[in-house]
Amino acid sequence: MITSDLMDVNESLPTPTTDPLIDRFNRRITYLRISVIDRCNYRCLYCMPDDVEFSKQQELLTFDEIYRLIVLFAKLGIKRLRITGGEPTVRPQISELIARLSQIETIEAIVMTSNGHRLVTLAESLKNSNLCEINVSLDTVDEADFSKITNGGNLRQVIEGIDAALAQGIKIKLNTVVMPSTDAKVIGSICSFAWERGIVPRFIEQMPMSSGSLVSVGHRLMAVDIRKIIEETFDSQLVPVLMDQSNIGPARYWNLSGDAHSCFGIISAMSENFCDSCNRMRLTATGKLHTCLAFDDDADLRGAMRCGASDAMIEGMIRKNLDYKRQGHEFHSKQPQKHMISIGG
Ligand code: 5AD
Ligand code: SF4
Repeated sequence: MITSDLMDVNESLPTPTTDPLIDRFNRRITYLRISVIDRCNYRCLYCMPDDVEFSKQQELLTFDEIYRLIVLFAKLGIKRLRITGGEPTVRPQISELIARLSQIETIEAIVMTSNGHRLVTLAESLKNSNLCEINVSLDTVDEADFSKITNGGNLRQVIEGIDAALAQGIKIKLNTVVMPSTDAKVIGSICSFAWERGIVPRFIEQMPMSSGSLVSVGHRLMAVDIRKIIEETFDSQLVPVLMDQSNIGPARYWNLSGDAHSCFGIISAMSENFCDSCNRMRLTATGKLHTCLAFDDDADLRGAMRCGASDAMIEGMIRKNLDYKRQGHEFHSKQPQKHMISIGG
């Protein structure tokens, strides 16, 4: 853990440079995920433990603090931002924050991950804020199952939200977490739902956050099974899709043979590790910088800012924290205590 103790920080931090952020394993960091709130209007089974403690309003980074940090990160080579939560759309004035961040010259794209519940109301202002894309979490298209998984979520409202965002011209992808209940029927129906709308669905192997306590027992499908199910359900061979550099991320994509509109992705952290190409860091809603999703250490940038740290000091903290970025996750043997709800995926 790196603390915000300014005496320590001052003595041991690297001096500011214009060098890009490159870690010990030669991975260049160009992508930052920013959680803007650790609360959510849903309560998905695999995301939020019963005893989770939410941060108080005054503990959250203010928009001015977020802006200050992102200007600094942009200077260090961050080009793409993802706004996450909790659920980012429950943070008041979220569109204003995105609009402001989009003015930072070298930020090339701002995207968001959302449960979709508030998109009917927010789609227009999000479009006007220059948000490029939203990944909507959708684990089933069955209303009753959806309500169970999300603890009271409203599938119809989410679908209306997706359609409202599409109508505004915002690109949408779907995120489906693969649980024991995710069978061939669920996978086929998610693909059909997505492809009818010109959307790409992505199937995500569940990662054991919260010390693994939210991983429900039971057999679950892995990447290789999912590909086979899609081949069989749609009676087609799969063709790998090569993504351009700007789209680099953990998902790998396939099409049904001969049909470019039937693209799907798989994020297979557990069975087909992609840590080698990791290009990201994560900033929590309370200003902690995490260089790895799978480990609990962090750097307290909010603490530093609120103690009066200069930009050079904060830059030093960011670079030093990057030295702690691991080569790969150890999810199979060692799970982080932090909760998905507080880091935002
Ligand atoms: N493993 C993988 N993905 C998860 N998500 C939430 N919890 C987990 C987990 N344990 C997904 C959500 C959302 C995104 C932020 O991460 O469904 O799409
Ligand atoms: Fe909310 Fe997303 Fe977590 Fe579900 S997965 S509780 S929608 S933050």
